[in-house]
Amino acid sequence: MSEEPAVVIHPAKNIEGGIRLPGDKSISHRYAMLAALAEGTTRLDNFSTGKDCASTLDCLRNLGCRSETTRKGETLSVEIHGTGMNLQAPQNVLNCGNSGSTIRMMSGILAGQAFESEMTGDESLSRRPMARVMKPLAEMGATITAAEGNRPPLRIRGAKLHGIDYAMPVASAQVEACVLFAGLFAEGETVVRSRIRTRDHTELALRAFGAEITRNMGEVRILGGQRLRAIEGGVPGDISTSAFFLCAAALFPGSQLAIDSLGLNPTRARLLDILVQLGVKIRVTQLEELNGELVGTVQAEGGPLKGSKISGGDTAALIDEIPILAAIAPYTADGIEIRDAGELRVKESDRITSIVGNLRAMGAEVEEFPDGLRIPGGQSLRGARIGSFDDHRIAMAFAVAGLRAEGETEIEGAECASISFPGFFDLLESLVRR
Ligand code: S3P
Repeated sequence: MSEEPAVVIHPAKNIEGGIRLPGDKSISHRYAMLAALAEGTTRLDNFSTGKDCASTLDCLRNLGCRSETTRKGETLSVEIHGTGMNLQAPQNVLNCGNSGSTIRMMSGILAGQAFESEMTGDESLSRRPMARVMKPLAEMGATITAAEGNRPPLRIRGAKLHGIDYAMPVASAQVEACVLFAGLFAEGETVVRSRIRTRDHTELALRAFGAEITRNMGEVRILGGQRLRAIEGGVPGDISTSAFFLCAAALFPGSQLAIDSLGLNPTRARLLDILVQLGVKIRVTQLEELNGELVGTVQAEGGPLKGSKISGGDTAALIDEIPILAAIAPYTADGIEIRDAGELRVKESDRITSIVGNLRAMGAEVEEFPDGLRIPGGQSLRGARIGSFDDHRIAMAFAVAGLRAEGETEIEGAECASISFPGFFDLLESLVRR
């Protein structure tokens, strides 16, 4: 049991309002890393306020890349002074905190340096599998050692890398980013292949920073030795964070929610299709492009919810949204089944176990599978004291489930929401009508 006081969620009647969200976590990590390698100073508005992206900036500072952040209200801007591909050997072990994206993507960059470095993280990160990045980077010529079971800390001895043709055994955007970043430092061409499409922020970001990179069906190619140049711009609002607010609105017929400047990259926006399938009225307006990323306004209106089955490529596309979809599933008419989601077991927590445990604690019937879960519809939940499992998406998902439960829901260790969005509970409360 966590020592921290629990956050208490009271039942709501409705969700109403207009909001804008902090910058997307996936895009913020990539922009920060590429800015550190670029020539010139990159200025980014609406950078992610999450602790994970702060870990990336910290690691980059340790590698000789200066950056300054400025906060105006809830909005964070950052200036990153590029090193022109000249990172310095770190004085300390690089602490990636809770961030799988930081350790995996950064390992690609560190593999191409002429020095040795070590990356570590918190208890949760120290349990996460790293073989998926160690294997391709070793093939490219780096020497990487890890703790037992290929878990962090990772010790990376950089080398003169050579390009490889790599078919990813697990569809992972983090691994793709890692190999493509290493490809920048490699001799010749690096190819990454995947049967399943994952988020394409890496190639869009590389292009925005001036690199040439090509995609053809399931393969992405990059030539080593390219230079990057700084950019100015903003980070689109985080669509994975928006999922909690959109699902909260979905729970109550009559809810009206608008989110502007939201990232709507098609490889991330499957959530909107699922919400429409469930019966939520969604309108997308004000579409624009920002450094290759699609941005727009989403309006959602709650209504009676049907059901859904999510599997295959949809599961990969929705991997970060599954906790919240599962948490609202009991309130749908036909339930939600999620399959092909074994990857959820190696996220910040074993998300299948965390979701099943919390739903059961709130009185729901759930069936668990090795690769997913099935939650029958037409159920009501009762408030309970539930765990966050130190996992930001679990804490936020069950805060939303608690809005329609009977009685109070107490979430232990809910402050872990700050991993992706420190302002989450205040913003949610500002939208709730009782
Ligand atoms: C991310 C990719 C996904 C996702 C994570 C962020 C990224 O992880 O779950 O939150 O920014 O590339 P995997 O690549 O492990 O699927």
